[in-house]
Amino acid sequence: MAKKKYSLTVFGCQMNERDAETLRGFLLELDYEQTAEAENADLVIINTCAVRQKAEEKVFGQIGRLGKLKKARPEMMIAICGCMVQQEAVARKLVKKHPFIDLIFGTHNISVFPALLQRASESSEPLLDLWDEAGEVVEGLPVSRKDGIRAWVNISYGCDNFCAYCIVPYVRGRERSRHPAEIMAEISNLASLGYQEVTLLGQNVNSYGKDLVEQIDFSDLLQRIDREGGINRLRFMTSHPRDWHEKLARVIGEGTNICEHVHLPIQSGSNRILALMNRGYTREHYLHQVEILRRYVPNCAITTDLIVGFPGETEADFLATLDIVEQVSYDAAFTFLYSQRSGTPAAKMAAQISSEVKKERFQRLLEIQNRHSLRHNQLLIGKTVEVLVEGSSKTNPDVLSGRTRGGKTVNFAGEGVLAGDLLQVEISEAKTWSLSGRISVENRNTNDQAVQGD
Ligand code: SAH
Ligand code: SF4
Ligand code: F3S
Repeated sequence: MAKKKYSLTVFGCQMNERDAETLRGFLLELDYEQTAEAENADLVIINTCAVRQKAEEKVFGQIGRLGKLKKARPEMMIAICGCMVQQEAVARKLVKKHPFIDLIFGTHNISVFPALLQRASESSEPLLDLWDEAGEVVEGLPVSRKDGIRAWVNISYGCDNFCAYCIVPYVRGRERSRHPAEIMAEISNLASLGYQEVTLLGQNVNSYGKDLVEQIDFSDLLQRIDREGGINRLRFMTSHPRDWHEKLARVIGEGTNICEHVHLPIQSGSNRILALMNRGYTREHYLHQVEILRRYVPNCAITTDLIVGFPGETEADFLATLDIVEQVSYDAAFTFLYSQRSGTPAAKMAAQISSEVKKERFQRLLEIQNRHSLRHNQLLIGKTVEVLVEGSSKTNPDVLSGRTRGGKTVNFAGEGVLAGDLLQVEISEAKTWSLSGRISVENRNTNDQAVQGD
């Protein structure tokens, strides 16, 4: 008998991608196979994001289109999960508008996905199953990762920060840390499977361990993974500047496998806006942390997130953001237009900023950031850097693509090179978003020596 097919679309951040890997793991156990086209699928799943209006609009658009498919093939099952539908009001609105949906579940009950799927297949009504609380961290769930090279590993779930603009704490629940022994076991397993790179995931990795009985903080965990994990490249995200400490900068600087890249979202450069955002730090504190980081890790790539047009943001506040972007000189930045999220304190604040003003400020910010991104990339011209090969370039299948330890994309030509190889590449050209280079003779030398040694 032909295997059942599923399609899975994932919106949002790495948390959602990682959850999707658990869903894929379950589906593999249930003997489903994946298809890229919803048209051929017996089960269509959409893992949703609620962080900005745009993300939600995309989901609504996609579900609308599924209506036609469901009409043509009523036996097809449609399941919607993730952050957007963890908000009960949104989930109810969705089934009301699209009663053909078979199953809606949230972020807290992924561990019982097979049972939900079974119940939904037996029910003639849409099954809506949302848990208010996350409960204990569930270990031992199946996982099916995209490739055998890079892996995401959760170290904590949820968020307790309640930044005034952000929906995440409402849809991901309170912060829960995984036990270090579980994390170490997962990473050792990945190392034995040949994984080259691990990214540790948490909404705020710096507060890891606060809820554990073990006396361990994030720096201790990172150091332990660096020394005992057996993985060539370690990354982590996201760091909260309020909980950033000198100890962590030292651990990165002294580490062997920890990549010289820190993503440290600042959101705004204005102290007044940072306070309204409930971020818990000032620009002075932030700049001080950057200075410490650069002292311990001189070539550290620093990237950030910035929100433009938070309620009440004046031209002076915005200029303070531009100023800090100039001062820090980020390697790259993710810039967002503020998006009103109902249920968050900022959504109710007076003085929401008009779309025109937001867009105009956004453009000015982008111009400055692009200049810095290009400058950082140009500084690498003539240098030889370690690149982890990811495969063919997205835009040109004849060209290979990989990433530096600083997280920068490098395109280069090469024969006999495989995804997962760690190579030395000499950088010859720099653009704003990527680098080009050629495989360094250093690699050839190593190969030659190996041949002679034979
Ligand atoms: N926990 C991480 C990531 C949270 S979501 C952190 O604290 O950095 C990723 C980014 O989305 C945030 O850093 C923020 O810049 C942006 N974001 C969150 N809510 C937003 C909103 N309502 N409007 C615009 N951008 C938002
Ligand atoms: Fe959202 Fe702030 Fe938590 Fe990040 S730290 S997920 S921005 S509430
Ligand atoms: Fe991530 Fe979006 Fe949820 S950013 S945590 S998938 S709201």
